[in-house]
Amino acid sequence: MESAAHKASILGASVSSVALTCFLFGCATPSQQHVFPDVSALPSRPAMPDPLVMLNGEPVRSATQWAKERRPELRALFEHYMYGRIPPAPAHFQARVMGQYAGFLDGKATLKLITLETGPAPSPQIDLLLVIPNQRRAPAPVFLVMNFCGNHALVDDPRVPLTRGWVPSSCTGCTNNSATEASRGAQTADWPLSEIVQRGYALAAFYSGDVDSDRADVSDGLYAFLANGDSSRNVPANRGTLAAWAWGFQRCVDYLVEDPDIDAQRIAAVGHSRNGKAALLAAAFDDRIAIAFPHQAGCGGSAPSRGKTGESVKVINDHFPHWFNAAFKQFNAAPTKLPFDQNCLAALCAPRAVLFSAAQDDQWANPAGQFDVLQAADAVYQLLGVPGLDTAQVPPLRQLVGNRLGYYIREGKHSMTADDWRVFMDFADRQWLKR
Ligand code: GCU
Repeated sequence: MESAAHKASILGASVSSVALTCFLFGCATPSQQHVFPDVSALPSRPAMPDPLVMLNGEPVRSATQWAKERRPELRALFEHYMYGRIPPAPAHFQARVMGQYAGFLDGKATLKLITLETGPAPSPQIDLLLVIPNQRRAPAPVFLVMNFCGNHALVDDPRVPLTRGWVPSSCTGCTNNSATEASRGAQTADWPLSEIVQRGYALAAFYSGDVDSDRADVSDGLYAFLANGDSSRNVPANRGTLAAWAWGFQRCVDYLVEDPDIDAQRIAAVGHSRNGKAALLAAAFDDRIAIAFPHQAGCGGSAPSRGKTGESVKVINDHFPHWFNAAFKQFNAAPTKLPFDQNCLAALCAPRAVLFSAAQDDQWANPAGQFDVLQAADAVYQLLGVPGLDTAQVPPLRQLVGNRLGYYIREGKHSMTADDWRVFMDFADRQWLKR
């Protein structure tokens, strides 16, 4: 059954060729009126930089100064030296509801299939899978999650379209980098949809490859669109796929805040590992995201770039050159020159909530360093008068700690399981049910 297509909203300024050029080459735009030194001129700072000290050394003394000066400066610094610019919202944005089925999960939920059109091809078309609890008195809070293999892998339901584009060969049931019927429901065990719905939450999911596929050599999505046929403007080592994915989160939020079944004040962004890096980046740049769940996000996400455990800046840049911009590669040999660390990215979420969840055997993602990052973000929560981490001790296994800044570590390996989802829901309950 196909419901009438509807137009959700028209957003943002026109993506003109000037904007394309500025995005790729860093022109001064209202959000980018900062001039930053060459990497060679930056001092080495062994400790994570204080989020409450401006680049020029001046301390940040008030919430107003944080909001008006330091936050914009930090955002510009992250875009300039690490992630590249998060592209602007598209001029033409249309959400089409392709199907709506109230009898999903034995009648407990409604399945909505939506396609977000962000402009003419090859501008991304994002398939959003939305599962909304039927038993509720008010619009539902939602977990918005970016996934690795396509929405069809999360549920075994033929109404969910198979992902159209390139998928990694590691995805179960994919052949020649294409999804097949055999990939349907391959990950259901790790996505406890019934439980999520039973606890009153909606789930919205999209596939990273709908925004830009995870390939160092090819852009088939947002960057191909922005390059507008000019391959010199689509350079793998100066792309910033994490920024593109953060843009994808933001486009899904554009839709969710307009959907009357969803509570626009209670939108959480979730991602595992590389997807968690993008979820945290999206939240740091988008105040509509109330909670960030960068699960086991590690280097370039929740772990310090100055970290001595696990993945280093050089290793991540060498293996995944397309995730960050060209400037970030200049820190390979000297990450201590970064004028920020990931504590500043977490702090950009303040006063909103962030949970860092880790696993004991996942030393590649530096669980202890992730705790340090939260501690070094805490001062901003204090300045804003809200409780942050509220503890100086790494907790025992399986004990969720913290307030607006939360930390959790379990035994086991790098994975996102149904048990992890229970922790996400517990943390969201703490944030949202106490209001
Ligand atoms: C690699 C990479 C990590 C990343 C992880 C993942 O291990 O080095 O940075 O987080 O893949 O996305 O699973």
